[in-house]
Amino acid sequence: MTAETNSEQAAFWNTAGHGWAHVQDVVARVLRPYQDLLVEAATRRPRERVLDVGCGTGGTTRAIAEATGARCVGIDISESMLAAAREHGQAEFLRADAQVHSFDRTFDLVVSRFGVMFFDDPVAAFANLRRATAAGGELCFITWRTAGENPFMTTASRVAASLLPDAPAPDPDGPGPFSFAVPQRTREILEGGGWTGVEIEAQDRTCTMPEELLTPYLSNMGPVARALRAAPEAERGPLLESVLGEFREFVRDGEVHIPGGVWRVTASAPL
Ligand SMILES: C[S@@+](CC[C@H](N)C(=O)[O-])C[C@H]1O[C@@H](n2cnc3c(N)ncnc32)[C@H](O)[C@@H]1O
Repeated sequence: MTAETNSEQAAFWNTAGHGWAHVQDVVARVLRPYQDLLVEAATRRPRERVLDVGCGTGGTTRAIAEATGARCVGIDISESMLAAAREHGQAEFLRADAQVHSFDRTFDLVVSRFGVMFFDDPVAAFANLRRATAAGGELCFITWRTAGENPFMTTASRVAASLLPDAPAPDPDGPGPFSFAVPQRTREILEGGGWTGVEIEAQDRTCTMPEELLTPYLSNMGPVARALRAAPEAERGPLLESVLGEFREFVRDGEVHIPGGVWRVTASAPL
């Protein structure tokens, strides 16, 4: 990994990764519908070597290894995420920046669930991934549509901003969860990286978890967890209690319902 590229993201995800790893079973359960979209695409034809970009704690890598029988490699920039991934085995896990890493083999499928939106030079990153893909191989990734189509995440950002009013607002054009929300930009980035046959398909899913998992989820994941970590330890419990009320609209009959809008993006490496 070079110091020049994505160093802010590496620092961010090394810290955030501890929370993700701590509740990896909850995350696996909540984000399962989006994993299923990738597994469905991966099993449309035989696969031998699959790369999972921004694999995190590796749940999707393992699911694709199981479903396809392919040899799977997960790449991630965050050591804390990978430490959790490696505990499960079932795939090879590599700590490197996917934007610049020089892969020692090619893959016939490159997948990602929410792991490709954080590159500081996305065209260079997708060109690098295309070089790592065998001629005729495929790319398939899941990325968020707009903030407005993902109200749970919007609520989390709003609540976090109210807890940390002096924090700088995120750059809407920089790396971040919604950086591939606009299909035309995604198409330009992929074609700029040498991919062909780009298809961008809207998918809507509702993720669920039992209500009792909302507290561990919010206190380990995303902007609410970051805002809570910034507060003195003694204040975190009462603060969390006060913010839970903001998420009432997502709770029904003991279940949390998280409606989400994503793009499933597919493309091919030229023959
Ligand atoms: C939102 S998380 C998704 C994790 C996992 N794919 C999942 O769905 O549970 C984004 C992941 O992308 C990784 N990531 C961000 N920038 C990266 C880069 N340049 N190279 C490799 N991984 C990166 C982060 O470390 C993090 O694990």
